Amino acid sequence: MKFNFGVDYYPEHWPRERWPRDIELMREAGINIVRLAEFAWSMLEPELGKFDFAWLDEAIELLQAAGIRVVLGTPTASPPPWVMAEIPDAFAVSALGRARTYGGRRGYCPNHAGFLGHCRRITEAMAGRYAAHPNVIGWQIDNEFGGGCFCPTCRARFQDWLHEKYGSLDAVNDAWGSVFWSHVYSDWAQIPVPFDNGFRPTYGSSPGLELDYRRFFSDTIIAFQKNQADILRRLCPDHFITHNSGFGFKDVDFRKLAGDLDFVSLDYYDRIFDNLSLKVQPEIAGFTYDFVRGFKNKGFWLTELQGGPSGWKTISTMPRPGEMRLWTYQAIAHGAESIIYFRWRTARFGHEQYWHGVLDHHGEPRRRYEEIRQTGTELERLAPRLETLDGGRAEAALIVSYDALFAFQDQPNQPDFTYFTHMKRWYAALFRHNINVDIIPPDAPLEGYRLVLAPALYVLAEDDAAGLRRFVEAGGLLLVTARSGVKDTCNRVVNMPLPGLLAELCGVEVDEYEPIPSDTCVGLDINLPGMKEADAGAHGGEAAAAHIWCDILEPKGAETVATYREQFYAGRAAATLNGFGKGKVLYLGTMGNEALRAQVTAWLVGSAGVNRSAHVGRLPAGVEAVRRWEGERPVTFLLNHTNQTQTVELVGPCRDIVAEKDHEKSIKLNAKGVAVLE
Ligand code: GLA
Ligand code: ZN
Repeated sequence: MKFNFGVDYYPEHWPRERWPRDIELMREAGINIVRLAEFAWSMLEPELGKFDFAWLDEAIELLQAAGIRVVLGTPTASPPPWVMAEIPDAFAVSALGRARTYGGRRGYCPNHAGFLGHCRRITEAMAGRYAAHPNVIGWQIDNEFGGGCFCPTCRARFQDWLHEKYGSLDAVNDAWGSVFWSHVYSDWAQIPVPFDNGFRPTYGSSPGLELDYRRFFSDTIIAFQKNQADILRRLCPDHFITHNSGFGFKDVDFRKLAGDLDFVSLDYYDRIFDNLSLKVQPEIAGFTYDFVRGFKNKGFWLTELQGGPSGWKTISTMPRPGEMRLWTYQAIAHGAESIIYFRWRTARFGHEQYWHGVLDHHGEPRRRYEEIRQTGTELERLAPRLETLDGGRAEAALIVSYDALFAFQDQPNQPDFTYFTHMKRWYAALFRHNINVDIIPPDAPLEGYRLVLAPALYVLAEDDAAGLRRFVEAGGLLLVTARSGVKDTCNRVVNMPLPGLLAELCGVEVDEYEPIPSDTCVGLDINLPGMKEADAGAHGGEAAAAHIWCDILEPKGAETVATYREQFYAGRAAATLNGFGKGKVLYLGTMGNEALRAQVTAWLVGSAGVNRSAHVGRLPAGVEAVRRWEGERPVTFLLNHTNQTQTVELVGPCRDIVAEKDHEKSIKLNAKGVAVLE
């Protein structure tokens, strides 16, 4: 895959006379790609069926003359007013039953046949126009899918979807346990959508129905995308098709959505809105990149990377000197194959007039442009090397389940528990160990991993439980935590002691359980075999403790490795370790505080013998190392996320291909500095 470096460009926001200057500045910064037109529907089709491509043709040609290639966005995330006026019943309806009105974006119902027709028309027109254009290389469909709709059309489609999935109403009633509160359905048309009736959140609807509605809506978006993908495949067989996910992943199963794409794309902003803190959280970016890379298990594009301070009503802090370059290298390290900054120049008007781009409102190059230019020049030189890099397979994996994500959204179990945040916390604990991590679905093949973390694997399919069992039998080390194996795939609680299908594998049963208030912890005595004093020590002064949740465990063959210190269950098991086949399972009956996760991951990584990145040993806090492969040879990205110069000890002599310098024993990284070692 060719490495591309670019910006999101909105020529339609600027006078025609300015374009050549923009393009000249882009060229000087090493930019070789732009994304265009993903919000330009009203400019492309000002009236029904009356297309105006002249301005876009001209922009594309000017770019072409400068050697800058183009990705086009289909503009369906924001239809013009006239489209919505033609189909006034196509506005999305909220869970409270209120229809949206015009303004903003993504205001439509993705199931509305009329709207789907409008989307086909504009997609066909654009695809037809640019299929053979030598400077257009691919398509982004729509923009950042997500949201929801509860309109009558969606309700009818939901009923069809259920019919298709279950075949009979008896099967639906059985799956959902409709006998509860006499919800037994005798006609498909009776089946409701999970409205928030305005009394209490989703008061009264069934967990089975809730989970199916989320799956249905996710499938709706996938079908919405396919409505356009089919046209693009047919008319533009030589172009790639992608979609830019971003801003939360909770409404659509993006792994499934990725099936119709050549590769996936991501929009990522480190600092947004009213975030005025300068606290760096490279592990959140790392999590996001590894999660997205897992959608197709291959490299992805970054279609939007922060190009300046951002926000709508308020403005975030600025990227610090070196940060945009650092973020760029971090993304590449985690598998980004092209980098596009959002946006080229800050808009003077519109909702996003404070979402700053590489250039400020005035359009003159300043500090951020300079940094992009330096990065672009550097990457132009490195591109041939970067293009050959491969992430290989990590030795550690974190299982993130869309069924769990969907099901926890309706039933968090503990008021402050958020599944996705919790996954990020486990990832953050792994991040400190200088190891690569794959983020995988519960049905991914597990052979080849040494360590698999399956925290809060709430909804569990029988096949997936069997996969975990095979993994441990064959010698793997597995972590299972509280609220795993609780539900079957219909979102019914299992008919056996928890952790349900994993109880035998874990050699333990949950005797009783309770959530605990978020501002409290329950102390633990921990005794993991072979745990070194140093690793067992408190983390940042905090003692490892149970948090959010307490399972009171009854070992059934497993060894107790942590006990509660407080409550009436003081002395009872909080964590157990079980040998199973050639492997082991650690069951942790709590979400845990940060110190507990730190301690547990230190033990897991050590016990599983997960290999660290080559070239470097122990890292200073805030320095990240990511391993990639060039054929059989490891290449290490070293990323200093701190504000200080850091010295990193080397395992042996190596060469930094960025600075083109050799290093013997150690390497000094400037604040926000990067090195790529071979
Ligand atoms: C998203 C969108 C962009 C823009 C930015 C900034 O990532 O894809 O169109 O709205 O956020 O808000
Ligand atoms: Zn709808």
